[in-house]
Amino acid sequence: MPSPLSLDLSYLSDVVSPNEIEALSPRALEALQSLLEKTGRGADFLGWIDLPFDAQKQLPALRKAAKAFEKCESVVSVGIGGSYLGIKATLEALGGSPKVHYAGNYLSPTSFSKLLRDLNPKKTGLIVISKSGTTTEPAVAFRILKTWLEKAVGKKKAKARIAAVTDQSKGALKGMADAEGYATFVIPDDVGGRYSVLTPVGLLPIAAAGFDIGQLLKGAQDASKVFKSKDFSSNLSARYAAARYLLYQKGKVAEVLANFRPELHYVSEWWKQLYGESEGKEGKGLFPASVDLTTDLHSMGQYLQEGQRNLLETILWVRTEEKDVAIPKDKDDREGLNFLAGKKLSWVNEQAFKGTAVAHKDGGLPVIRVTLEDLSEYSLGYLYYFFEMACGISGRLLGINPFDQPGVEAYKKNMFALLGKKGFEQLAEDLKAKGV
Ligand code: PA5
Repeated sequence: MPSPLSLDLSYLSDVVSPNEIEALSPRALEALQSLLEKTGRGADFLGWIDLPFDAQKQLPALRKAAKAFEKCESVVSVGIGGSYLGIKATLEALGGSPKVHYAGNYLSPTSFSKLLRDLNPKKTGLIVISKSGTTTEPAVAFRILKTWLEKAVGKKKAKARIAAVTDQSKGALKGMADAEGYATFVIPDDVGGRYSVLTPVGLLPIAAAGFDIGQLLKGAQDASKVFKSKDFSSNLSARYAAARYLLYQKGKVAEVLANFRPELHYVSEWWKQLYGESEGKEGKGLFPASVDLTTDLHSMGQYLQEGQRNLLETILWVRTEEKDVAIPKDKDDREGLNFLAGKKLSWVNEQAFKGTAVAHKDGGLPVIRVTLEDLSEYSLGYLYYFFEMACGISGRLLGINPFDQPGVEAYKKNMFALLGKKGFEQLAEDLKAKGV
């Protein structure tokens, strides 16, 4: 199959030259080599590299488990961070799923009440996802939902409509799933949360929504063949990593991912987690931000065009649309739009993309253009692998461990202390002394 992804580095606004990118190739390939040889920092979290192939054998069991949710009108996917964003990103990009709802990714009681108000417990299934099995938000949400479901249909029927995705042996969720007899799927030890969309974390809810997880894996498999290659000229993932690293070295401290399709909003959220949590440590890393265009051209567009020149922009453009709409002719033409009569919205959007990219480049904002052929399962699998490999390489170039997230513990400890959890008594005292 031809590659569904291309990369254009010709809009870097003279900040980084093609020669500089080529000159970085030995370092980028060395970084790639260390990932493939499973050496360097975080080497025991490199399971995502071969995941597209490793996950293949799980497809029959995942499809069978997804089938069990067929009769459900709604399925609530309970999880946060890497146990949430890849699912939401994929389902939204594929056109949305009226069936799948989300919980465990917030603590707001108003939002939770709205969710329960909109669901019929007699027709709802639950997929609870947590690698550690101890994350507070999904644990609290699952307890509420499990109680709600069991109350409506009884423990036995509820059990048949609950599946858990968690660690092979550790964590409270694993213990509960075993004790209750839930269908259970494993997140491999060597795959971190933000790299887990192609494990049962993503595959089970995506299959339950009726999408083709075989094609999602196929896209990632094909991508892995290309992005594991030491040929720097064709390895677009390594080239993207090299370009953004060089831009970072020249003072571009934030990367804004822009899209021209609302369906991509959560792909940007997934990307932000991937890069933010992987790179943002030891005082280093590009700050990942995102904009949805053309909406944000009427707000953030001003800053992108003329604000501080410490940003780079990566535009994710999708070349084809599933549907198109023509602009009608109007006999009065009061708004003077007849020059567009008969033109398709896809074409108008494309001119917005082209015009924006060149305006930003001319304004001194370096633009990396990533073009995806379409929003299919295959292309999304390809895209995820492209970004994951580039993120691994970027981490190596920066000299940090792109596979841990020590910084997310700080808020958790404070929260546990404030909630009165056992073992956090001293911290609770310290916080009290600070007036918290
Ligand atoms: O990337 C990560 O590891 C995190 O963002 C986790 O995905 C997130 O904290 C959820 O963790 P868990 O799946 O253990 O509940």
